[in-house]
Amino acid sequence: MSTSPPSFPDLAGKVVVVTGASRGIGEAVALGFAAAGARLVLASRKAEGGLTAVAGKIQSQGGEAVAVACHTGRMADVEALAARAKEAFGGVDVLVNNAATNPHYGPLLAAAEGQWDKTFEVNVKGYAHTIRACLPLMKERGGGAVVNVASVAGLVPHSGLGVYGVSKAAVIMLTRTLAMELARENVRVNAIAPGLIETRFSEALWATPEMRERALRSIPQRRIGQPEDLVGAVLYLASDAARFTTGAVLVIDGGQTLGGAY
Ligand SMILES: NC(=O)c1ccc[n+]([C@@H]2O[C@H](COP(=O)([O-])OP(=O)(O)OC[C@H]3O[C@@H](n4cnc5c(N)ncnc54)[C@H](OP(=O)(O)O)[C@@H]3O)[C@@H](O)[C@H]2O)c1
Repeated sequence: MSTSPPSFPDLAGKVVVVTGASRGIGEAVALGFAAAGARLVLASRKAEGGLTAVAGKIQSQGGEAVAVACHTGRMADVEALAARAKEAFGGVDVLVNNAATNPHYGPLLAAAEGQWDKTFEVNVKGYAHTIRACLPLMKERGGGAVVNVASVAGLVPHSGLGVYGVSKAAVIMLTRTLAMELARENVRVNAIAPGLIETRFSEALWATPEMRERALRSIPQRRIGQPEDLVGAVLYLASDAARFTTGAVLVIDGGQTLGGAY
């Protein structure tokens, strides 16, 4: 399987903010944009460690990247993130809202208030506030593109992932609402809804052979997705190739949510 991202020449030189870029899907997406010639503003809660390593990888390949410590659930942090993008590269063209959390596995009604708050603070308010912080910089440049990382858990109920699923359903409505509200500003807002992707985040769903086998049975393509499987879709939605697409939710799940019968 080739992992080289498709080419979107208009992304060269664009300033792209990726949250949750220290590992997993955010890292793969950041490396994909860098390979397309974009300049990267990378965010996660800690700058040292993974985030700095991803920035270093991009720089060692001749690309441009800055690593910014930013808790996306905190308004002051995301405002500082946007300010850093302005300082480093003069503005923002693309925002990939990717950082999310899931502090509660189990029945929806068993979640504690703090778990609800944490989930919505990062997964929903965090996405909205990061868009709000980057929007003036996109407007200064005549427009931009937002790609929100949602989940198939926001489309169909997943046992044990109820609170997270409700937050991802909110991301989908956030995407559709802002697509409508920001269209006149020439800012497109789209989402991807990945199925099971092999990262630390989803480890509880594939870590043992039994769990992996159970997961594979639910995926018609018979494999668990890799972060690189999402890169082409994110670059496409951010690029001029998708210039007439806004408010779309692209499902990328190996057929998991097709609902087919065997
Ligand atoms: N893996 C899957 O099966 C799957 C499926 C569908 C959707 N998704 C979605 O894909 C996105 C990325 O998930 P992943 O699987 O790549 O997870 P991951 O490997 O655990 O990476 C999560 C990233 O988010 C950062 N992060 C977490 N909380 C943050 C916060 N409050 N502020 C800033 N950064 C934060 C982490 O860095 P720090 O710890 O340094 O902050 C890390 O860079 C999420 O939106 C997730 O919901 C994943």
